[in-house]
Amino acid sequence: MRRKLVVGNWKMHGSLAQNKQLLDALIRKLEPLTQADFAVCVPYPYLFQTQAALQNTRIGWGAQNIAKHQVGAYTGEVSATMLKDFGSQYVIVGHSERSTAYCESDANIAAKFASAQCSGITPVLCVGETLHERESGLRERVIAAQLDAILDIVGAKAFATAVVSYEPVWAIGTGFSASPDQAQSAHAFIRQRIALLDESAAESVRILYGGSVNPSNASQLFVMPDIDGGLVGRCSLNANDFEAICRAAC
Ligand code: 13P
Repeated sequence: MRRKLVVGNWKMHGSLAQNKQLLDALIRKLEPLTQADFAVCVPYPYLFQTQAALQNTRIGWGAQNIAKHQVGAYTGEVSATMLKDFGSQYVIVGHSERSTAYCESDANIAAKFASAQCSGITPVLCVGETLHERESGLRERVIAAQLDAILDIVGAKAFATAVVSYEPVWAIGTGFSASPDQAQSAHAFIRQRIALLDESAAESVRILYGGSVNPSNASQLFVMPDIDGGLVGRCSLNANDFEAICRAAC
């Protein structure tokens, strides 16, 4: 039985003062909830603050990107070992907001996935189709290509301890979530794709849904058999909304 996981993706939001309020509230609200796992992925400069606040709690933390290299002359990059230094348990890789803005290749994303695992950090690999791809009937083909590119490089076994997040690009930040049935069918497809190579990895991989998750739609999404929680953007910045979403996973 997979434990549900809810991860907040703060994106490029926050300040020391705002984070303090949010983190204090999350500790109060989420600590009593023991039936699921929770984490926040914060901007790099706030890792130290987040670690200081959340260590010795059940709430995990991490970042939203990493370098594919472990060390070296890579100006502006942050490695998985550095994230580990700050106690991070998770890192998002391949988020569409990065892969489109910075033209990230599948090979790069795969290298980041591998680099995270090498340092003992759980990668949260994002996959998902654009509106145009969905309307052209290409959803499964696009997801399969995104997944296969990583599977080919890191192997299916690596997915047993990883997290995949299905994030239809058209649902991110739009207020229009995929319906529970739409999301479930994509999640089942992802799991089957991994099962073709390794059934036990497919059974254990947690597949989150991301894209306009909010307190009103979270429980209908999380009740679906292949939806193991959520990757939450906007609503992770509000302690009451994030708590409500986390409660829906319990
Ligand atoms: P929203 O929840 O704001 O739609 O963002 C989703 C997302 O991109 C999570 O990674």
